Amino acid sequence: MQTQDELKTLVGQAALAYVVPGELVGVGTGSTVNKFIDALATMRTRIAGAVSSSVASTERLEALGIPVLDANAVDRLSVYVDGADEIDGTGCMVKGGGAALTREKIVAALSERFVCIADESKRVEKLGRFPVPVEVIPMAAQRIARQFAAMGGSARLRLRGDVPLVTDNGQHILDVSGLQIGDPLAFESQVNQWPGVVTVGVFAHQKADVCLLATRSGVQTLQFKRAG
Ligand code: 5RP
Repeated sequence: MQTQDELKTLVGQAALAYVVPGELVGVGTGSTVNKFIDALATMRTRIAGAVSSSVASTERLEALGIPVLDANAVDRLSVYVDGADEIDGTGCMVKGGGAALTREKIVAALSERFVCIADESKRVEKLGRFPVPVEVIPMAAQRIARQFAAMGGSARLRLRGDVPLVTDNGQHILDVSGLQIGDPLAFESQVNQWPGVVTVGVFAHQKADVCLLATRSGVQTLQFKRAG
């Protein structure tokens, strides 16, 4: 029986099939993406480089000899490869367990195709079991927590040790549990409008086009329709 780590390696390698030779590739963040970055190193001479979604991924890419370009230097990317904390049957995701959600959404928005790589533990019928990460401006955190409480959620400030975790963008993260996300697109649009929300970790506007799902019986390819 394969371990979860081996399943992550499988989908990290399978995602190479979506990388377009000669082009730049968008790179997400997390332990599954780290497997993809390691696999990408085997074709580093055949790609133009990467646009990265976090300091951690940038450091790993550069250590393996893959040049990283600023997102402002590119008009479009053919593909973005990233993991997820949850993915539903339409390709909508919860992301941000690694606190990189804002840059992940930016790089996803630059990309023509979002390839999600995940093991089968991430596949859910309905989003919301995993606490939804929300990057917030620190002075707005308590007000935003009260807004989530009014919709039945419970927001907790993410800590690193005894102090609030600070994202690559200098902001804080609320992890919101107890949410019923029946309509991910509407939920994302609603929370996006609250003052002080930088990014909500529901990816419905930037959902996956494809999910490579590692299961005990191999890698399944799930194709999703584009959001209208
Ligand atoms: C980071 C993310 C990750 O993609 C998500 O947390 C999944 O990570 P992992 O592959 O380590 O399970 O959104 O912000």
